Amino acid sequence: MEIAILGCGVMGSAFARKWADLGHHLRLYNRSRAKAEQLADETGGQFFDQIEEATRGADLLLLGVKPHQLNTIGAALEGLDEQQLIFSILSGVTLKELKKEIKGGISIRMMPNLAITCAKGVTAVAEDPSLSEGVRKKVNELLEPLGKVVWANEQDLDIITALAGSGPSFACALIEAFAEAGIEHGLRSEMAFDLTLAMMEGAIALVHAEENHPAVIRHKICSAGGTTIAGHRALQEYRVQAGIMAAIEAAFNKARGKS
Ligand SMILES: NC(=O)c1ccc[n+]([C@@H]2O[C@H](COP(=O)([O-])OP(=O)(O)OC[C@H]3O[C@@H](n4cnc5c(N)ncnc54)[C@H](OP(=O)(O)O)[C@@H]3O)[C@@H](O)[C@H]2O)c1
Repeated sequence: MEIAILGCGVMGSAFARKWADLGHHLRLYNRSRAKAEQLADETGGQFFDQIEEATRGADLLLLGVKPHQLNTIGAALEGLDEQQLIFSILSGVTLKELKKEIKGGISIRMMPNLAITCAKGVTAVAEDPSLSEGVRKKVNELLEPLGKVVWANEQDLDIITALAGSGPSFACALIEAFAEAGIEHGLRSEMAFDLTLAMMEGAIALVHAEENHPAVIRHKICSAGGTTIAGHRALQEYRVQAGIMAAIEAAFNKARGKS
């Protein structure tokens, strides 16, 4: 497929690298030329100075700019072919807004996360009754090699943005906290991070394997009068779970433009 990446920042580049590995040909365009040029070198794609040239003949356009830049990009996308797919990963930008700004093509709203880089991403695609079965199939074929794909009601996209889009960043803060606690008490940094990641992977595997609510597993690990329950008391005192819920709520409010 010919894929135009419009905005070669963190996410645009992540998609570009994966799709290049899968054999797609890239047409790269970025406001500052150097990023597109470098990504073209790396992926064997072509970079363009004009957005119109980048999109001409592309089967798919990925919008990888910041949400407030949609109108600049939209204005430059006049006269798209009706069959051209447009993937928007712009946080908080609705399908209605997309279709208003971008006249031709088939606009599809989605929310990926950065774990697409290692094919462990989560991409939520907004359901749209106007999409044909053929288009849905194409969307799945393009996204499934990058990780999990879920089709969701558009009204849930903002909370999904907070939970699964921003989520890896919050999870990294937790990983740091676990490892730094180990370092504080004498573990070498490398070992502390190694143990933290293995422990996290194990916890996730347990939740999958036991098909139980995490609370059931949490209690199995708490032996009477033991170390784990002592730790849980501290988690409650520091309101760690409430803090995580507040972080998701802050991201959610930002996504739906409330802050
Ligand atoms: N970061 C994430 O984990 C994540 C996850 C899910 C969704 N998203 C969404 O993905 C989008 C991009 O986020 P990001 O984190 O990748 O941002 P980013 O790293 O800042 O990338 C944005 C890119 O767009 C370029 N750009 C800006 N205006 C442009 C224009 N008019 N024409 C062409 N290129 C333009 C910028 O170029 P310059 O070099 O000139 O600044 C920059 O390279 C956002 O809408 C965000 O909501 C991000």
